[in-house]
Amino acid sequence: MNYICSNCGMSVSVTTRQAKCPCGGLWDLDFSPPKFSFDEIDRDEWSMFRYRKYMAVSDDIWRDISLGEGMSPVVRLDENVLLKMDWFMPTLSYKDRGAAVLMSHCKEIGVDYVVQDSSGNAGNSVAAYAGKAGIACEIFVPEGTSPRKIAMIRAHGAHCTVVPGTRDHCADVCREKVEKEGVYYANHVYNPFFYEGTKTYIYEVFEQLHRMPKHILIPVGNGTLFLGAIHALEHLLWSGVISQMPQILAVQSENCDPLLQAAVQGINQPVRVVPRPTLAEGIAIGSPMRGTAILAYARKYHVKFIHAPENRILEARAALAKKGVYCEHTTAANYAAYMQYCERNGVAEDCLITMCGAGLKSDH
Ligand SMILES: Cc1ncc(COP(=O)(O)O)c(C=O)c1O
Ligand SMILES: [Zn+2]
Repeated sequence: MNYICSNCGMSVSVTTRQAKCPCGGLWDLDFSPPKFSFDEIDRDEWSMFRYRKYMAVSDDIWRDISLGEGMSPVVRLDENVLLKMDWFMPTLSYKDRGAAVLMSHCKEIGVDYVVQDSSGNAGNSVAAYAGKAGIACEIFVPEGTSPRKIAMIRAHGAHCTVVPGTRDHCADVCREKVEKEGVYYANHVYNPFFYEGTKTYIYEVFEQLHRMPKHILIPVGNGTLFLGAIHALEHLLWSGVISQMPQILAVQSENCDPLLQAAVQGINQPVRVVPRPTLAEGIAIGSPMRGTAILAYARKYHVKFIHAPENRILEARAALAKKGVYCEHTTAANYAAYMQYCERNGVAEDCLITMCGAGLKSDH
């Protein structure tokens, strides 16, 4: 299987250790799944790898790496809202979907040491799956990252380096190490195998409901869930099993919204912003590396970018907790955005909201 450069189109084997193309472009995967059919789901496999027919998973190494990720329930919150409980995962966030595939790939090509930068959850996931795979791992997180996420990363046996400054600076520090030392960058944004895992979010919903909800609300920092979801939805459309794209509501923090601003201004690239502090640490991404691709999809499928109001995140978290759903701040931001959107635009009916991170992680 090959990578294709998203910028110049160069093709290289996925066995490469290069994090990106020499031209600077990020890799995409040269992989087209067969048409989707319920018959090809491996119903004997009780993890997201039951959809592996539609994922770029070439051998059986995933069987040694999987921790049973995926298969999260869809729960009705009220008349209009369905919650996909995606923190019901081995490390309590949806990032396990991507990390399971990415670390299986690392194992397959013989990588023995990986580095990664993260606001915490992707670091938790990569550290856990690296542990399962027997791969040494170093995670860089920005200062202010939830102490419980840092403790988890270390518990999995990874080295965790806390970098002063913003989330974007933390990524720069990690990428410098990758360039200087040539170590493998097991990064959820750069590495396209990660998106093969996040695609399963949509396959699962479709298998569970036998339809797609009218609205799908997705948080977007770097867009790993967003892009995986778009790829899977395009696949379902092309397969003829759904007839139209659902209305995607893409959530950005009002304190860090480079994509929302670009969409509003009709610009093709993320707008330069100076991120202000936000409780929604998971989406505090000032420079999303796949921003141009995200904006292109957003235009193509009439995605609406909406703000998570900072001063309503705790209110949203409390409202969900009162109904038994205890999520982390970044996840509560999704519900805060939904509430504000409905107040301003009328109720978004039949809306699926991801509950992508667990509450205990952000108790600090
Ligand atoms: C709980 C949670 N939600 C949403 C996101 C945003 O993901 P992405 O940056 O890939 O868009 C993250 C990322 O860390 C997260 O941890
Ligand atoms: Zn290139």
